Amino acid sequence: MQIYLDTANLSEIIKYSEYGFIDGVTTNPALAAKEGVSPNKIVEHLQQITNSVSGLVSIEVYATTYNEMIAEGKKYSTIAPNIVIKLPTTEDGLRACKTLTDNNIKTNMTLVFSPTQALMAAKMGATLVSPFVGRVEDAQFDGLSLIAEIREIFDNFQFKTKILSASFRSIKQISIVAQLGSDIATISPTLLSKLYKHPFTDKGLEDFLKTASQVS
Ligand code: E4P
Repeated sequence: MQIYLDTANLSEIIKYSEYGFIDGVTTNPALAAKEGVSPNKIVEHLQQITNSVSGLVSIEVYATTYNEMIAEGKKYSTIAPNIVIKLPTTEDGLRACKTLTDNNIKTNMTLVFSPTQALMAAKMGATLVSPFVGRVEDAQFDGLSLIAEIREIFDNFQFKTKILSASFRSIKQISIVAQLGSDIATISPTLLSKLYKHPFTDKGLEDFLKTASQVS
């Protein structure tokens, strides 16, 4: 399973990209705002991100209507060859996905909460679909079954669209989507570090070195 970093924080992106830990990046308007990036500065900011990462980088449109989404998507598509246009999974968003796909522009259909939304996104030729595991679980529904159902549908019909599971609340959710065959998981910097840090590893290492130091 590929791992993307779910942030617009440039220093975290550069750090994890240099470590070789990440395969791509996802951003959204809220994540950009968290870094103080306004809509009129987004192109410049994404240029810096795409220069730091070789994998796919998603930028989400601010527009909510078809014509505006197409104009914004076409503008962003010139940022870099690894840019992906993220669109909300609405009626206008799905139409925009089809048009941008027909223009050879990569798309990521976001805010997916049902298997049929993922099916429609795949039929429109989306490069990626982003089901929001955590938000489904926050609402006391089964966000992990959503991934299993989308996986089965995509396999049944050999859709090329990749499942990019998103909106995680725990590392357990991440290991389960890996077992279920999600192609990619996009993860916050905080959760990413928890994927590999373990107190028993630190304690075990401390014990080994302590024992070793007792031999002269
Ligand atoms: C996905 O691309 C989104 O940016 C993100 O995972 C949403 O997560 P949230 O539910 O924590 O906002």
